[in-house]
Amino acid sequence: MRNALTKIRSCAAIAAAFALLAASGVSYATSAASATSPASSNGAGFDDAALVKRGEYLARAADCAACHTAKGGKPFAGGLPLPTPIGTVYSTNITPDGQSGIGSYTYADFDNALRHGKSKAGYTLYPAMPYPSYARIQPDDVKALYAYFMHGVAPVQQPRTPNGIRWPLSMRWPLALWRIAFAPDAAAAASPQAADSQTVSLERGRYLVEGVGHCGACHTSRGALLQERALTDNGGPAFLQGGVVEQWFANSLRDDRVDGLGDWTRDDIVMFLKAGRNAHSAAFGGMRDVVLDSTQYMTDADLNSIAMYLQSLAPARQQASLAYSDEAALALHAGHTELRGARTFLDNCAACHRSDGKGYDGVFPRLALSATVNAQDPTSLVSLVLHGASMPGTRHAPTVFTMPAFGQRLDDQQVADVVTFIRGAWGNRAPAVDADEVRRIRKSSTVSGQ
Ligand code: HEC
Ligand code: HEC
Ligand code: HEC
Repeated sequence: MRNALTKIRSCAAIAAAFALLAASGVSYATSAASATSPASSNGAGFDDAALVKRGEYLARAADCAACHTAKGGKPFAGGLPLPTPIGTVYSTNITPDGQSGIGSYTYADFDNALRHGKSKAGYTLYPAMPYPSYARIQPDDVKALYAYFMHGVAPVQQPRTPNGIRWPLSMRWPLALWRIAFAPDAAAAASPQAADSQTVSLERGRYLVEGVGHCGACHTSRGALLQERALTDNGGPAFLQGGVVEQWFANSLRDDRVDGLGDWTRDDIVMFLKAGRNAHSAAFGGMRDVVLDSTQYMTDADLNSIAMYLQSLAPARQQASLAYSDEAALALHAGHTELRGARTFLDNCAACHRSDGKGYDGVFPRLALSATVNAQDPTSLVSLVLHGASMPGTRHAPTVFTMPAFGQRLDDQQVADVVTFIRGAWGNRAPAVDADEVRRIRKSSTVSGQ
């Protein structure tokens, strides 16, 4: 099986890959039958208030709103466009409306969509819905989620927006093959040890990160068929080693010293997920929404479990920690700006991030020794400079500080130079960025910086 998958990855033509997959003898049997299905529909028997409340918490931890609530739309009524390489997929209405939502779904129908990637109508869902991760959700938690969506969410009548995917790519059958190849079997994947949400534990953290929180959907890079290169830590060091989502690079969450979380304490990680900022960094891009909609609501026990689990992930690369150097600060203070990008930095960035690169704690993040700045992939840095960003205002840190956009003021070469400058100053050690790279990111930009 592993062999067949390797072949598929290296195969450029998707159609050929699917043919190969079909020929590789993968069983077409599905796991849906293993779903436990109480004989009830429309949520009858699922209206226990405590169960609904637990479901609400899980819906936040799983961030269902991120995709199923459109900007300015009613909660969970769907319609959010999700760009994929083959076209736009629109999220569906998952409110309990009988016609346009999931009001007629039995528990088994709901479980089929959530963990097995199958619609009530029987076709396979696009993996824009993260069912390969949700496959790990335990049946008890699926029940709580079902209870919440049936009894805790207001029904909204809002028909589905048709997907912007053209024939033949709009055919759903190849998705079934994809699902069989890349999505784990839910019965085998659900971890039985992780139920206890009261105590801090590695297993609870694993469950939240690999399953409910689907962190790998952004933080793991994808293969030729858009499958995550690893869905769990057992899949090897590609897991959570970093991936590009839209115009942002979601950093490595492994223990790498230079560009991962190697130099973060457990409290640092908890603070980042809870407040959206800490002494190392502040959330932006896709992570801003994750903090706003999801992690800020999680309990301290769960956040500590997540942090404990992330800290257990071996570094993907052996790296020595970076050491701060005051060379750049001294040069800037003395007015030496002959290094490329130094002048642009002084004129545009130093007021907030300071010429010593240390920023202002909790207000303007530090650039010196930052994992964000030292990431091999510069996508986030270029996008930040082009589009700016606003921190999430959270219950724990309500003030929103904003970085302005420089896309109008600086040309591609200037952006490349200033990013290259910060990647080499104050002890940072990351590869230079050229104007072509900036041009490419500027062209493909769809983000507004918020
Ligand atoms: C990263 C985006 C994303 C997240 C997070 C997400 N979904 Fe989805 N979901 C989608 C998309 C896109 C579809 C439609 C897929 C398709 O049409 O093939 C979908 C489809 C569904 C369906 C199937 C509806 C139908 O028509 O049969 C259900 C049910 C569902 N999601 C529930 C949930 C729940 C519950 C959560 C949280 C636990 C969740 N989703 C989280 C993107 C997401
Ligand atoms: C929708 C995509 C997305 C999802 C899902 C996501 N992240 Fe992120 N994450 C990002 C992006 C993009 C960044 C880089 C921007 C930043 O640092 O805020 C990031 C950054 C981070 C950082 C800061 C890393 C650093 O070095 O500064 C942490 C910690 C983090 N994510 C943890 C998580 C955890 C834990 C989960 C799952 C519960 C998760 N993320 C889910 C997109 C995502
Ligand atoms: C007005 C103050 C201000 C100016 C000027 C400014 N920034 Fe920022 N910068 C911020 C804020 C605020 C954030 C946090 C944004 C967020 O998290 O959404 C930030 C974040 C960053 C980050 C990400 C750090 C991290 O780990 O979270 C980088 C890199 C960065 N800025 C580089 C620059 C560069 C390069 C310039 C000049 C071209 C610049 N900034 C100008 C305020 C500023």
